[in-house]
Amino acid sequence: MGAAYDEARRRSLSEPGDFWGEAAGLIDWVTEPTQVLDDSRPPFYRWFPDGELNTCANALDRHVAARRGDRIALIHDSAVTGKVTTFTYAELLDRVARCAGVLRSLGVEKGDRVVIYMPLVPEAAIAMLACARLGAPHSVVFGGFAPAELAARIDDAEPKVIVSASCGIEGTRVVEYKPLLDEALELTAHRPHTCVILQRPQAAAPLGPLDVDWAQVMDAAEPVGPVTVGATDPLYVLYTSGTTGKPKGIVRDNGGHAVAMAWSLPNVYGIGPDDVWWAASDVGWVVGHSYIVYAPLITGCTTVMYEGKPVGTPDAGAFWRVVEQHGVNGLFTAPTAIRAIKKDDPQGALIAERDLSSLRTLFQAGERLDPDTFAWASEHLGVPVVDNWWQTETGWPMASSMRGLDPLPLKPGSPSVRVPGFDVRVVDEHGHEVPAGTEGNIVVRLPLPPGTLPTLWGDDQRYVEAYLSAFPGYYSTGDGGYLDDDGYLYVMGRTDDVINVAGHRLSTGSMEAVVSTHPMVAECAVIGVHDQIKGQVPRAFVVLKAGTQADPGALQAEIVEMVRDRIGPVAALRQVAVVPALPKTRSGKILRRTMRGIADGRDEPVPSTIEDPGVLEALAPLLRGDP
Ligand code: COA
Ligand code: AMP
Repeated sequence: MGAAYDEARRRSLSEPGDFWGEAAGLIDWVTEPTQVLDDSRPPFYRWFPDGELNTCANALDRHVAARRGDRIALIHDSAVTGKVTTFTYAELLDRVARCAGVLRSLGVEKGDRVVIYMPLVPEAAIAMLACARLGAPHSVVFGGFAPAELAARIDDAEPKVIVSASCGIEGTRVVEYKPLLDEALELTAHRPHTCVILQRPQAAAPLGPLDVDWAQVMDAAEPVGPVTVGATDPLYVLYTSGTTGKPKGIVRDNGGHAVAMAWSLPNVYGIGPDDVWWAASDVGWVVGHSYIVYAPLITGCTTVMYEGKPVGTPDAGAFWRVVEQHGVNGLFTAPTAIRAIKKDDPQGALIAERDLSSLRTLFQAGERLDPDTFAWASEHLGVPVVDNWWQTETGWPMASSMRGLDPLPLKPGSPSVRVPGFDVRVVDEHGHEVPAGTEGNIVVRLPLPPGTLPTLWGDDQRYVEAYLSAFPGYYSTGDGGYLDDDGYLYVMGRTDDVINVAGHRLSTGSMEAVVSTHPMVAECAVIGVHDQIKGQVPRAFVVLKAGTQADPGALQAEIVEMVRDRIGPVAALRQVAVVPALPKTRSGKILRRTMRGIADGRDEPVPSTIEDPGVLEALAPLLRGDP
């Protein structure tokens, strides 16, 4: 293995205080931390406990103070409106300081929460940074979620203010956000004081008594300076899907996060202050938080925010136009986007048309990078295609080739090596480490490094139960896989009921909760099945109540609509099969894992506790998709 990588990994694990203490030098502190890691209360760990800082000041003010105010901070490229808008660091700082003034005038102070429900517009990043400036944790909710999901997050985060927009644009379709927000607020127990609404010309929204107009309040706003916060104070809460319907509020602190962002962009992604970086994701996901907003701005480089899809509007060459036009040096996207592009442009003709000489690396994450997509992208782009594995909880990569620190050889099918700071191991069901080449549960030995979740919002107990109880002393990732003899990790998929649809993380449990409310449904199981473009898609199997007759087409349409209405279009449930029975254990537990295995074509052992093997045998052809 490379010497620099080996040394960083060794030091990060055996001398974490020195290693992360040095990395803390990448950040401007108001009060330098005297302690690196507080491990006095396991399994809760706190990084830089007595440090004080402001994350927004690290992302903006310090670059302006260092005479880099004229550098382009943010390029918003909107394929759906045909507009490109740029902000220098000085301009972005001005907008953010005034947005912070708006929020403060609406009563937002340090510690108050702000929910942001917006399409991918610069104002979303401005609102996030304005919250960081005030020390007010933001909670961004992805626009593809339905009112009920938004409402659940509002009730958990209890925001004083909500920032939203009149509409988003999906391809050529205008999605009105304001009615969705209003509907969500009909469902919540919690009432925010005010909603700040960005009016977009594609669909202006009528404003109600709770609402103020973004442009008007920004015009009248006084800029405010950064508020000093403790390193362990929360910067944001980002909800993610778990195995149950209730989303988990992942907490991110200020200090550890800023250090992890400042360390990871150059070391993992090989991107420095003079580069142009593009994470083609959405601020509603962790990739958007870490690598559209915080890491590139803390590093001082240019970040591209692209509003549009990789295909369709205008065509499968959209990404390559953006790379050429803005001179992108590093592009980060999900394999699903590359598969969608490959489907429309299999020969890479639209790639060949462009001058992509600026591009050094394509990064892939969010789901497994299949070897075909790896090979296609490598061949047509002619740059290293680097898989990296992480999750909302960790905030930054746990496994990747370290492009800046020590670019080791790549292996198709593997997100490469364990990133320094993450003591990733593979264990069996008893928590014993398994030999190289043997599949098991992927876990990380505690403490997790800076920038990872310290707990769940308002729920220490759920944090411990969900992540730390299965294998004491370890954080359980929920993923399964193996390490090879060279220490390369292979991530094979989730071991729980979380699925990944087009790079979007969803809970089949929450879909089951919706499907089971259909009046004709006695019981159901939703599992993720393979899809050529989206990686996985949900598929529902329903058993009807005794004596019920249903037209399968009409029933499918109703169930699809219910899931879309309650969870959102992003759930993408399209397939519903009516079956006579579901395979269960004798104690009544549905054998979802066995169903998943058969659907994926694996030789899945049938548990000895199965109640009636005949039910599974009858279902198998349907699961396998036999004609
Ligand atoms: N607001 C409102 N609706 C949204 C939305 C948003 N922010 N995002 C998605 N939707 C809707 C879509 O319009 C679509 O609606 P439809 O069913 O009426 O067509 C539905 O949710 C499903 O969207 P999606 O899963 O994105 O499918 P798609 O067919 O529109 O696009 C891909 C497929 C692969 C091109 C697209 O999913 C993609 O680019 N994925 C990459 C995701 C990513 O970057 N993830 C971050 C991890 S790095
Ligand atoms: P999210 O929290 O939305 O980022 O989703 C995290 C989950 O996506 C992980 O637990 C994995 O199941 C999956 N995932 C993310 N990146 C990869 C990758 N590079 N390879 C395989 N699976 C991945």
